[in-house]
Amino acid sequence: MNIYKRLLGYVKPYRWRLAIAFLCMLAFSMANALVSVAIYMVTKGFVQKNQIVIDNIPYLSKYFPKITSVALPIIWVPVILVVVFILRGFFDYVSNYQMSNVGILAVRKVRDDLYRHLVYLSHDFYAKGRTGDFLSRITNDVGQIQGAITDVITDLVKQPLVILFNIPFIFIWGGKYALIAILIFPLVAIPIVLLGKQLRKLTKKMQERTGDITAFIGETLSGAHIVKAFTSEEREIHHFEEINKSVFNFFRRTIKITIIQRPLIEVIGAVGAAFAVWFGIKYLPPERFAAFFISLYICYEPLKKISKVNSTIQQSIASGQRIFEVLDSKPTIQDKPGALVFSEPIREISYEHVGFYYEFDKWVLKDIEIKAKHNEVIAFVGASGSGKTTLVSLLLRFYDPVQGMIKINGKDIRDLSLHSLRGLIGIVSQETVLFNGTIRENIAYGRPDASLEDVKRAAEIAYADHFIETLPQGYDTPLGERGLKLSGGERQRIAIARALLKDPPILILDEATSHLDTQSEKEVQGALENLMKARTVLVIAHRLSTIQKADRILVMDKGQIVQQGTNEFLLRLGGMYKKLYDLQFNL
Ligand SMILES: Nc1ncnc2c1ncn2[C@@H]1O[C@H](COP(=O)(O)OP(=O)(O)O)[C@@H](O)[C@H]1O
Ligand SMILES: [Mg+2]
Repeated sequence: MNIYKRLLGYVKPYRWRLAIAFLCMLAFSMANALVSVAIYMVTKGFVQKNQIVIDNIPYLSKYFPKITSVALPIIWVPVILVVVFILRGFFDYVSNYQMSNVGILAVRKVRDDLYRHLVYLSHDFYAKGRTGDFLSRITNDVGQIQGAITDVITDLVKQPLVILFNIPFIFIWGGKYALIAILIFPLVAIPIVLLGKQLRKLTKKMQERTGDITAFIGETLSGAHIVKAFTSEEREIHHFEEINKSVFNFFRRTIKITIIQRPLIEVIGAVGAAFAVWFGIKYLPPERFAAFFISLYICYEPLKKISKVNSTIQQSIASGQRIFEVLDSKPTIQDKPGALVFSEPIREISYEHVGFYYEFDKWVLKDIEIKAKHNEVIAFVGASGSGKTTLVSLLLRFYDPVQGMIKINGKDIRDLSLHSLRGLIGIVSQETVLFNGTIRENIAYGRPDASLEDVKRAAEIAYADHFIETLPQGYDTPLGERGLKLSGGERQRIAIARALLKDPPILILDEATSHLDTQSEKEVQGALENLMKARTVLVIAHRLSTIQKADRILVMDKGQIVQQGTNEFLLRLGGMYKKLYDLQFNL
């Protein structure tokens, strides 16, 4: 229920729209109740032809003896019929329009909040979940609550009003027989409630499985090249068909229950109506019977909707839960209150006794000590899994050290604002992430206001200008999702141009050339050397040829720095580095 209240909180800003909608629901309910009056007059008109004399209405004649007999010209019949339906339609339209607007606006806000929150969450959160699951929350679950919010409000306000205004007419037309009908009505609600419960369970399962489908499609399509490389298309298709089949099964059972509801209720209703007719034929004149019947029928839809409200609420609670779970998870890495906006030139970066683990007590880094002076190039080598990527990602504060601290110019980076800290650092990694957009937009990602000249200059230094200029639309060539139209080397050079344009004082290169072939690596190497000029650089290289000129090489093994020095020094020293070196050059 708290969750539902919280969902309703999203509707609050639109209280004026809600007020208008509620007023229109009130007016609609009144006009709707007059339908039975119109039917009364129509039937009366058929019997009396020239004019209609309204009389013999039980409760009315008792309490208002003066208006028991009113004579109206026959023209009133069609006029009233039309007027009633115009009023009814108008108020229905306005109230639905306002309610839908409230729903759409509320959902837009939820979705904005959710996306904003997701983007700001820290690395550990993404590492735990599946992208597809987040996708599903932001699309399916948010969609789910849109209907739920507005339907529930509508059904709880409008439907009782419709019934309320209609009940007097049931008694006016039906007299004491109204009581019989009203006693039968609750019977109609029983199957709705019973089936509703089952329906709720099924829908929940179906939602979960639909989430699975979204996740599965996302994963296999983004890894499409792997699927193809392993020629496992058929296996994935089979897997997909399995998931899809189980959604289908739930769907089929849901449909079974959904479509049995109406006939079932109608049969029960018909039995009730049969009773009413039985007495009606005997004791009521035709016009009163017709009006009586209609006023009963008008209550049928609202009753059905009210009995469903609870299950709709439950559904939206399930979705709300999944949404708030995300909204309530706090980014683990955040600015401290009053965080320092760092704007000095870099003098020194230091790691002091840094220790780190992802999972409790499984140390990935142990007692790391590094001092990097202004414009020094520090290289890291070591077997994969030795902690190199983890080590450099701590500088970006993707995670915070478990022990020790990292300082820039003697200031703990945890005291700096994230924006100013990350603004200092450029990164080129093995996995080049390019976004949907033009080449120019991608290069200017860190400085969206950069002029075309600046973009071109960055591309030139990154050796990217030649191939960009051969593209039909040059710098305005759209890249498509993940930049699939370019080769690995080309994408890498765009990423380098992107880092160049940002012009950060600190640069991190994480195996930037490791998945390029020798030819592309040569092309990229020159670009990288240009990028490394006049910056403090932390470079991780899996090919030692790329780091021989580094000021210092740190050799990592199982989370520790085991050797350090220049290339020549380490070769003379022998040991781990010499072994890695021999492996690459002498075999
Ligand atoms: N998000 C993570 N959660 C848990 N363990 C991780 C995570 N990322 C990396 N690791 C583990 O930390 C260790 C160091 O990984 P990494 O820093 O990527 O090494 P390298 O870059 O040297 O190959 C590895 O054992 C790896 O399995
Ligand atoms: Mg790595």
